[in-house]
Amino acid sequence: MSGRIPQSFIDDLVNRTDIVDIVNARVTLRKTGREFSACCPFHNEKTPSFTVSREKQFYHCFGCGAHGTAISFLMEYNHMTFVDAIEELASNLGLEVPHENYHDPKKASNDDLYALLKQASTDYQEQLRNHSNSAQAIEYLKNRGISGKTAKEFSIGYAPPDWDHLRQRLGQGDHKQKQLTLSGMLIENEDGKRYDRFRNRIMFPIRDRRGRTIGFGGRALGDGKPKYLNSPETPLFHKGKELYGLFEAQQALRKITRLLVVEGYMDVTSLAEHGIRYAVATLGTATTHEHLSLLFRTTDKIIFCFDGDRAGREAAWKALQVALPTIHEGKQINFMFLPDGEDPDSLVQKEGREQFESRINQAQPLSEFIFDRLSQDVDTSTIDGRARLTELTRNILSQLPGGVFKHMLTERLAKIIDIDSKRLTAFITPYEHTKHTKYNRKSKKQLTPVSFMIALLLQQPKLSVLAHDFETSPDMEVPGLHLLMELLELLRKNPNLQTGALLEHWRDQEASRHLFKLAKWQFPLAKEHMESEFQGALKQLKTKLNEQMTEQLLKKERETGLNDTEKVQLRHLLTRGTSVDNDHPT
Ligand code: CTP
Ligand code: MN
Repeated sequence: MSGRIPQSFIDDLVNRTDIVDIVNARVTLRKTGREFSACCPFHNEKTPSFTVSREKQFYHCFGCGAHGTAISFLMEYNHMTFVDAIEELASNLGLEVPHENYHDPKKASNDDLYALLKQASTDYQEQLRNHSNSAQAIEYLKNRGISGKTAKEFSIGYAPPDWDHLRQRLGQGDHKQKQLTLSGMLIENEDGKRYDRFRNRIMFPIRDRRGRTIGFGGRALGDGKPKYLNSPETPLFHKGKELYGLFEAQQALRKITRLLVVEGYMDVTSLAEHGIRYAVATLGTATTHEHLSLLFRTTDKIIFCFDGDRAGREAAWKALQVALPTIHEGKQINFMFLPDGEDPDSLVQKEGREQFESRINQAQPLSEFIFDRLSQDVDTSTIDGRARLTELTRNILSQLPGGVFKHMLTERLAKIIDIDSKRLTAFITPYEHTKHTKYNRKSKKQLTPVSFMIALLLQQPKLSVLAHDFETSPDMEVPGLHLLMELLELLRKNPNLQTGALLEHWRDQEASRHLFKLAKWQFPLAKEHMESEFQGALKQLKTKLNEQMTEQLLKKERETGLNDTEKVQLRHLLTRGTSVDNDHPT
């Protein structure tokens, strides 16, 4: 291959191809209403649940969930590579595929950030050895049972107490300081002065799977507040996606047969100290879909470790919900609950590797955790109780992809409630069909404004002009907002992209699944109402963002005070109420 295919060519190609022709040349389609359908080529079935939409330029199977664009169809059906599929579509249209030499300016600057963080990490390690305060830091680690060897393996370092240590060391010139700020290592105050984010802390570099340092966690020595300080979201670091210790586990083990998921830095390092090298931490956030997919890309067996208390069990149940759709053949998830008041760090120090590992080996299989939890408030000795349990389980089963695991759960449930498993399966299956139709008819009220807007934009990209001047600050905490902004940005640059071509921009990314779901969501709306609905949702979103911004500013005012721009902003927000649309009387 002679270089990268420009995205603009792919956009154009998908926009000009008709997926109906591509599929129909391989699987005979029948027109059914506005869409086309056939028996699904990707799984065995007798009644057609595979549909192709000319309008949206993608296919979707209600039976097995297969979905994608014309490119994906060729890749799946003809087992082509991405590039081969592009070549095929291009030759259908009589086009030559251009290749360009890959040079992405954004990527180049990321390379600079990686390099800076690497230097920071090396420097912090040096400070742990040589700084005038280093005895105190080393003493802290010793007290916590971390040896020099483990500290070295995790590249643990020390950020000195100075306000401008790193700025002096690595920030020669304004450009470097800007990059250090962008990478989260410096903080810029209202007067434009920059200072070190991490001071007088034990530094844990967070590395990606390739070993590149992408951020840091810093622990106060002793009782300083906050106990842990982490890198903020940066171009390199996304908290909900990373697992602390994964790189180090890969380094230490030839083959990773299982991964133990714990909460904190010290849990990972302390377990490593005791020879348990397969622990990773979610950095204090709840388990995300991205975590799961990263975990399962690395190993087949995951053990989640949680506190044994109520909060721990709730967190485990949440993790389970996230995990359900990702369970495939051969993948295994177990849950391990710790005695009250212990974390993996304290426990392994108390009882040692062997005992701790025997706990891991006895961790509860996912299915057991499910039934334990569901049976909790249900008396399975009564018929009512068993019916209730079936109802509850049905919900879980419907979230699982088909396969051995689902079958096993069904069998298990059948045993508990003492009915024939075939009858149970029959009972469970029709529910899933109704679930699909329900999903399709799902009213817009059940989507958040952000998801609703994304769905509308994917299906009616022209609506994006209604939001052409919509802007927001990147640190607003609204789920999906980032994705919405990306989509709007893309449509600003390429207003003619249609659904299929839009979706191609997220190929192989986590967001892709979600986007397809929204793209195939059927609106309970006539086309002529879409504009006003879109505007309504945008207005709702703006209100929400303004509320959040107001809260943030008020909090900041209380805690650290506001600079002049922020004061004006806050006054503005408060006097205009929480709706921004007051300046566009409707
Ligand atoms: N955490 C964080 N910010 C905080 C507190 C916690 O990011 N202010 C994250 C860290 O990744 C931390 C994990 O949540 O390692 C678990 O927090 P906690 O249980 O409070 O700390 P421990 O890991 O037990 O830390 P230590 O043993 O050092 O007290
Ligand atoms: Mn701890």
